[in-house]
Amino acid sequence: MHTSHLLEIKQLSFGYGCQSTDTLTIQNFSLNVNKGEIVGIVGQSGCGKTTLLNLIAGLILSSEQSILINGRPPKENHQIAYVFQSPALFDWLTVRGNIEYGVRRRKLAPSIIRQEADRLLHATNLWAYADAYPQDLSGGMQQRVALARALIVKPDLLLMDEPFSALDYQTRSEMQELVLELWKDYQPAIMIVSHDIDEMIYLADKIVVLQKTADLSDKCFEIPFQRPRDFEAIMKLPLFNQIKQRIRRSILQ
Ligand SMILES: Nc1ncnc2c1ncn2[C@@H]1O[C@H](COP(=O)(O)OP(=O)(O)OP(=O)(O)O)[C@@H](O)[C@H]1O
Ligand SMILES: [Mg+2]
Repeated sequence: MHTSHLLEIKQLSFGYGCQSTDTLTIQNFSLNVNKGEIVGIVGQSGCGKTTLLNLIAGLILSSEQSILINGRPPKENHQIAYVFQSPALFDWLTVRGNIEYGVRRRKLAPSIIRQEADRLLHATNLWAYADAYPQDLSGGMQQRVALARALIVKPDLLLMDEPFSALDYQTRSEMQELVLELWKDYQPAIMIVSHDIDEMIYLADKIVVLQKTADLSDKCFEIPFQRPRDFEAIMKLPLFNQIKQRIRRSILQ
């Protein structure tokens, strides 16, 4: 039987503008992502991580049909949500307004939208700030609004590009916990880019190392730790460090 993946990328190649074929940003990249799977994307700066997410989101178009989400090309797919490195909130809308904006174009009853937003305001611990404006919130709170705005569409696939890199250590680990909690609730597949390998091992089912140079092939590492994971506990396991070393070596190749 043909098993279909949520996301199928087959031999994707992509270059900006007039890049010649041997200096393409993405060369012959393949990846399958299952429903509800969390995939970490790591790699040196400039290796094409953001480009890859933008191609999947349909923000940039590749000429070939090498990306399929639920069997359809990115631009025909509305079940994708994107959380950027900076929260990119609308400063003229309240927290609630920003969250509800995610589903504004769907033909949903206002009472349903309100109910869903209420649920996310509670889940992200923003209930008390529903009527506040983004400029009155801390960076971590703004990123929680961005996460709620993404999840209100109940996406099949959530793309996150270094979503916590601007946050301090404490806020960052709170965000990791929040993402895992919401993931349990909403069950999206997640593709998350990060430079923090510890974070990736903690969150991901598998980690893909993108290579900058064409003659090295991209590598995929399965993360075997059972969920729910206890970060402090798995960090002490020899296997954790083995995986971390393998990934680090692969990045530096
Ligand atoms: N709009 C663009 N036009 C031309 N080249 C671009 C454009 N955006 C990115 N590039 C180039 O494509 C390559 C990959 O960029 P990309 O932003 O995808 O890397 P990245 O892996 O996300 O890096 P970082 O870790 O620094 O965020 C880089 O060499 C970059 O200079
Ligand atoms: Mg990037």
